[in-house]
This record gives sequence, structure tokens and C-alpha cells, in this order.
Amino acid sequence: MLTTFYTQLKDLHKLNCIQALLGWDQQVYMPPGGRSSRTEQLEMLAGISHERLTDPKLIELVEKLWNDRNKFSETDQVNLRETKRVIDRAKKLPADFVMEKSVVESQGFQTWCSAKPKNDFEAVRPILEKLVELNKKEADLVGFDEHPYDAMLDIFEPAAKISVIKPLLSRTAVRLAKMLPQIIDRQKEFKKINRDFPVAKQIELNRRIATAIGFSPENGRIDASAHPFMTNIGPRDMRITTRYDALNYLSSLFSILHEAGHAMYELGFKPEHAGVPMGQAISMGIHESQSRLLENIIGRSREFSEYLYKQLEELFPAEHQRSSPKEIWQACNIVQRSLIRVEADEVTYSIHIVIRMLLEEALFSGNLAVNDLPNAWNELYQEYLGVTPPSVSEGVMQDVHWHQGSFGYFPSYALGNLYGAQMLKMAAKEIDIGATINAGDFAPLVGWLRKNVHEQGKRYAALELIKVISGEDLSEEAFVGYIERKFIKGEEGLDRALCGQ
Ligand code: CO
Repeated sequence: MLTTFYTQLKDLHKLNCIQALLGWDQQVYMPPGGRSSRTEQLEMLAGISHERLTDPKLIELVEKLWNDRNKFSETDQVNLRETKRVIDRAKKLPADFVMEKSVVESQGFQTWCSAKPKNDFEAVRPILEKLVELNKKEADLVGFDEHPYDAMLDIFEPAAKISVIKPLLSRTAVRLAKMLPQIIDRQKEFKKINRDFPVAKQIELNRRIATAIGFSPENGRIDASAHPFMTNIGPRDMRITTRYDALNYLSSLFSILHEAGHAMYELGFKPEHAGVPMGQAISMGIHESQSRLLENIIGRSREFSEYLYKQLEELFPAEHQRSSPKEIWQACNIVQRSLIRVEADEVTYSIHIVIRMLLEEALFSGNLAVNDLPNAWNELYQEYLGVTPPSVSEGVMQDVHWHQGSFGYFPSYALGNLYGAQMLKMAAKEIDIGATINAGDFAPLVGWLRKNVHEQGKRYAALELIKVISGEDLSEEAFVGYIERKFIKGEEGLDRALCGQ
């Protein structure tokens, strides 16, 4: 019986990988003429996956095995528990509801694409109202203990509750916002990098650095796409993308670091757990911790800029002479009261997220109507960041998430920042992280993450894992302390910024 269970799980995983391959091609290589046939192909596969996942025979099998779980190993129990979790949610959603929702989601996406450049919130409002309504209905169908928004969070951060996350992330945002005037004041002489860096050489730079991290051509590809992403095509086949700005090599490089962080997580699962929950990410927050710690805490460190400078000396001999390692470090760490989340720096990024979380929570508790969303957005931006968007495309309409029916995802990004800092503070007790990064040796850090995070698969819930690693509950202290030491006290050493000594 257990063998049948595993065969079916692995088949479902193969179906997901095939969908990922079609999705990757769609964003990287597919000509525009492929659009409608690709949509149909992806819809068909999504249908087959859902059918297999909700097959009464599989449900019955999982139920039986779950009742006998004490007979099985710990790993088997984790795989059963996590599969049961996904099935329990899927079976509460009637097929016609799932169909209707996916139709409105794709209408929402199309409408947003055409309305955003025109700054037309009225054009998206009716579909956005419908999407909020459908997601509230989904929350009712799957059920929740405390708050309907918890049913949304549960998709991305299993078992997370807004009653826990809201005070934690709100405190983070308030403490970060308070530091902003002082941080900005200290950075008057920081300059952006803005001169010619041929894309062919940027590609070579990215390839070298990704390989040093452990993302080798043997197990992955790097391509270009409009929006950078990582996708898993198979247990030993990760695809990452970036986009190039010929005047600033840092833009493509930081996307590479971010996406390589995601890829190293998925490459770090144990081979014997391929295609089953023990070989899958715990939550999007933990996933984002792996990408954001590599992009920000490592990538924007003084030690990384020393290592980067040595690479630049070889690849851009003429250009590099005008930037010292210190100037590179400054260019990577400019903090601004910005309007756009995806361009935000390490300090303000979490504030952008908290604003979205507060609005999502208000939409789901019924305290905010979609009609009032643009005003509520602007008020929160004024309150936390001291800026007001001049247009909805730079305000409430900037992100695609809500317009394609995705609610509850945003907190994962800010949780990722907290998880990452709390993890690295522990890693710094075993490794001199700064010295190894300075020398271009990423193996000790990646090895630590593999052992403590990646290989754990879905054994623990995210909030349990961080407690196992650090001995403490998740809190904002490690992250906010790191930001304070790096940006206000001017601590340039990575380990001292993390640990405060
Ligand atoms: Co990411």
C-alpha cells in the first residue's frame, strides 16, 4: 500500500515538473504565436493533476495509511501528513468553484495588463471585487479557526496565523521606518553604478558567481526573461532567469543571487526524497529566506564586494578602475523612500510588504472595500514611508498578485528576511562567514544551510524549524539588529553586523 502511495505521489510530482517546463518555455523562449495553444496545454495538465490529487482511491489510501501511521518511519509519516494536508484542502473545493475561480483569475490578469499602463483602477475594480469575494468564499469552504485570511496564508505558510504574524511584522516595519531618516542621512555620498557594462560580459560574470555558489551548468541553466524567476524542472534540473541593464551589472547580478538562493534550496533536498514532501520546501517564507539571505545579507556585504571586485578586475578591466570595493558596497546599499516594492532596498523592502499585509487583512476581515483600496494604500505609504504615489500604476496597481487572485503571499517575503537573519546569526557561530565569502568560498555557508535547512524538507513547520535551528521563536530581533548595526552603526564586517560583536 505504501508503495502505491509513493508511486502516485511521484507521478503527481512529474506532472508538476512537466507543467513547470511548459511555463519556463512560455516565459523564456516561446514565440507569441504559441500563447493560446500553451494556455490550453497548461489547463489540461492542471486538470489532470487536480483529478489525480482528488481521486477518491488516493484519498481513501492516504486515509487508511494515516490511521496506521504509527507503523511507519518518521519520514513516511511526514510524507503522509503533508499529502493529507494538501488533499484535505483540495477536496473541500468543488470542481466548478475551482474552474470559475481560474477563469476570473486569468480575466483579472489580462485586465490588469491593459489597465496598468493607463492608470485605470476603475477598469480592474469589478474583477478585483470578484476575486476578493471568490477568495473569501474559498476561505469559508476550506475553513479556518480564527480569521478568514489564515486560510489564504495557509497556502504559502502552512499553519501561520495572522494573529501571530501581524504583530511581528508590524513591529518590524515600525522599527525600520523609525531608522530611515538617520540611515538616509548617513548615505549622502553613496553613488549608483551607471556606465557601460556589455551584456555578454555580465552573462560571464553571473555564470562565474553562480558556479562559485554551487549552481553549476550540470544542474541548471541561466536564461533571460522579463521577470526573473526560478523553476524546478526535475530534482537535479533547476532553471533560473535574470534581466539585463547594460548600464548596471548589479541589477542582473542580484537577481541571479536571489534566484540561485531558491535553486540551491531545491538542489539541497536529499536525493532519496525526490518527488515527495520530505524533498520539498516547507513554506514560501523559508524559500524566500534562502534567496533573500544570499541576495542581501551575503550579496550586499562588504566582503562580497571585495570578492566581486576581483571578478570585475578580470572581466571589466577599464570600467572597474573607477569603482573601488567600498564604492561597489555603497552602490549596493543605497536606502530610499521608494514607491516600488521590486526596486526596494534591504531596509524598506519589509515595509512595502507590511503595507500589503495590512490591506489584505482588512479586505478579508471586511474592514476595507476594494473601492477604498487606492486611498488606503496611499495613506499607509505616507504613514510608513513618507511618500505618496503620483499614480495607481506606481501605487496600488504595481504588483500583479491581487489582480490574478493571489492573496496571502506577500507576508512570506518579509518572513523570509526574519528567518534568514535568524539562521545566519546561528551559522556565524560555526563559520567565519565574512572571511569565506571574501575568499569566494561559498561551500561552508551552503553546506551549513544544506544540513540545517534544505535536508530537513518538510519535516517541521516553518516556525518549528527556526526554533530547532536557533533555540528561539521567530522574532524581528536578529533582522532589525543586523539592519541597525550595518546601516546606523556603520558596521562593515558581515559577522559582526549579524551577531553584534
Ligand atoms: Co523569490
